[in-house]
Amino acid sequence: MDFSDAKEEVRKAADIVEIIGQHVQLKKRGQNHVGLCPFHSERSPSFTVNQDKQIYHCFGCGRGGDVFTFWMEYHNLTFPQSLKDLAERYNIDLPRYRDAPAEREKTELKDQLFKINDLAADYLHAMLVKDVGGRPGRDYFSRRHISRETISAFRLGYAVNKWDGLVNYLKSKNISLDRGAKAGLIVPKKDGDYYDRFRGRIIFPIIDLNHKVIGFGGRILDDSLPKYINTPETPLYHKGDSLYGLDSAFKDIRERGLAIIVEGYMDMLVLRQHGISNVVATLGTALTSNQIRRLKGYTKEVVVLFDPDDAGRQAALKSFPLFLNGGISAKVLVLPQGEDPDSFVNRYGSDKFKELLEGATPIFDFYLDQALARMDAGVDGQIRVLSEVLPIFMDLEQGATKFLYVHRFSEKTEISEDIVWEELRRREDKRPERRDTSQLKRRFLSGQDSRKYGSDLQFLNLLVHYPETIDTFRDQEWELIVSDPEIIKIIRILMEKSPSGGDLDLNRIEESLDSPKAKEQLRRLLMSKPIYSDESVSQAVDEFVRKIARVKISQSFRKASAEGDIETLDRLIKAKQALDLPSREN
Ligand code: UTP
Ligand code: MN
Repeated sequence: MDFSDAKEEVRKAADIVEIIGQHVQLKKRGQNHVGLCPFHSERSPSFTVNQDKQIYHCFGCGRGGDVFTFWMEYHNLTFPQSLKDLAERYNIDLPRYRDAPAEREKTELKDQLFKINDLAADYLHAMLVKDVGGRPGRDYFSRRHISRETISAFRLGYAVNKWDGLVNYLKSKNISLDRGAKAGLIVPKKDGDYYDRFRGRIIFPIIDLNHKVIGFGGRILDDSLPKYINTPETPLYHKGDSLYGLDSAFKDIRERGLAIIVEGYMDMLVLRQHGISNVVATLGTALTSNQIRRLKGYTKEVVVLFDPDDAGRQAALKSFPLFLNGGISAKVLVLPQGEDPDSFVNRYGSDKFKELLEGATPIFDFYLDQALARMDAGVDGQIRVLSEVLPIFMDLEQGATKFLYVHRFSEKTEISEDIVWEELRRREDKRPERRDTSQLKRRFLSGQDSRKYGSDLQFLNLLVHYPETIDTFRDQEWELIVSDPEIIKIIRILMEKSPSGGDLDLNRIEESLDSPKAKEQLRRLLMSKPIYSDESVSQAVDEFVRKIARVKISQSFRKASAEGDIETLDRLIKAKQALDLPSREN
């Protein structure tokens, strides 16, 4: 068995709906499954998965492919790594194989960084739990009520306060220090030597959805600064992409239909320890749209906990548009002054916390309350608030939510709903060049060649959905009736790769297409419904054959008339009449 056999094996064993469905909520719609795209922000689902063909395609952003493509993109892995993951998952043996040098290098680097992170996590964990030097770390965790179970479940660690603890450990394991530095764990010095990045800190490994360590956070034990440091950007760790604890929370989040988002490592751990399992933490950044996109694969409802200080309030306000555009309904919970989730739960217990959770404020109301708190009395104040809120209303899709929001807004501000709607209309009218003309222009332009293009697509649709018709066109000059070069490319490969009268091997076809545009085009088509019914296929074939003949005749016609070849012209006219006769449409 060689590498492509293995790939086929995996492809057969894997179910794309199951694989994607783990991380994206999919609903069956017709022959497809649809959901919100994990690769771009959208409010209504255009991400489409087709089980029969084992492909996915997003009609919003154009990304798509097969189960391997998904695994690579979603988990930030190379192809060989994805093949390995999926093969393991489905118990398929992989032979050793070679891949292209560039690919091999990337895979090798990432594989090694995973390995180094894993070694480091083990080492730091061992230091914490059993080394004499780990005592400060153990004391610290116990002071903060973190149990042994939590320490082992989250592989927490301790980095001793030395410059060469991890450096020496990596050396003892024959790990290239250059790679250690690429993992972000050690830092090169001018003299070519290295030193530990994390010193005298408790350590939180950051784990991805495949349960691999991609980075670390480390907290100092006293009040010195910086309080926390994190792994810098590496090939594995991208700030703002991951959420701390998501790997162990996503199943619960999906089951409960709710995610709780906190700001800190300790908050997440302490809540978990109190039995609240659907909680994740942002990692030292404001909430990002990438994080929200990940979450919405599991739930449409989140509660965000912000610190009760000004920074927390600002963070809440900043996250508002993200949720609005991410299609997630968010609530905000602000804890009593001076508390964060960690201190609150330790003081009052999880029942009190759950009670507070119940009373979380929908983020729009939260936003409004903040705005109103700053609203000056009288008309001037009203006008200020209105102009602040209008842009948000304008970004909302027309629908129930918008009506509700406008209603609530006018209730709270005592600005009449009519005025709000009127003002909205006026502003929408004011940006015609952005809205109407551009759309009109697009419609207009696309209308111009849509007829030609439409016929290309019809032809391709026929061939793809009724591959038995391909043979008919093999030795016809079908290129004459297709104008889009991408589609010509696809059809050529379709003909090359499909055996006479046989089924289409879609995967081989997709692999043979070199341009991403052509691949996308093919996927789009595969996702589309057949235009022709079983009964109308032969008639359609007939039409296209006739069309080819007609184009050929008019080409010869042009040539003959240029040469003044009356005899040929006469023959061609007769041929054309014969061709047109039986066809009712023409
Ligand atoms: P906080 O300062 O609120 O700390 O930062 P905390 O989580 O309550 O930590 P403890 O309870 O004092 O131990 C919230 C989060 O912001 C990130 C960390 O992820 C932290 O958990 N952060 C904070 C940093 O990345 N760097 C910093 O210097 C501070
Ligand atoms: Mn805290």
